[in-house]
Amino acid sequence: MSKPGVSRISISLPPALLEDFDAVITNIGYDRSKAIQQAMRDFISEYQWDAAPSASAVGTVTIIYDHDVSGLESELTAIQHQHTDLITSATHIHLDSHQCLLVIVVKGPAVKIKQLASKLQGLRGIHQLKVTSLMEALAPTNSHSH
Ligand code: NI
Repeated sequence: MSKPGVSRISISLPPALLEDFDAVITNIGYDRSKAIQQAMRDFISEYQWDAAPSASAVGTVTIIYDHDVSGLESELTAIQHQHTDLITSATHIHLDSHQCLLVIVVKGPAVKIKQLASKLQGLRGIHQLKVTSLMEALAPTNSHSH
């Protein structure tokens, strides 16, 4: 699937967009090639989710919820117990006297991550839910040292 070497491309874009882009990447110490590669991986991750639902992904489901809603915490726990094949870990942080942050780390088919997220999203008392997913196949594989 992956060819060795590099491909060079030429693209057209509005000057103002390039200016903004250069300002941001200079700030974070990236060159254009590195920044565009990362932007392309993010873009593919975002859309491959729909195009290749069975592709393996890693990511997180991050939830802020109302800890006072009765039954919600046991429901959240029950759902996590139903998806032990997908969930690698979870962290619970008590934000204040009413709100909790739950970060669930997931690894598995993108479609299953999406299903888990929509199941959680539907619960009463969820204030915010965000899914981040990275397609495993897109991760650079040539510099893995641990
Ligand atoms: Ni809590």
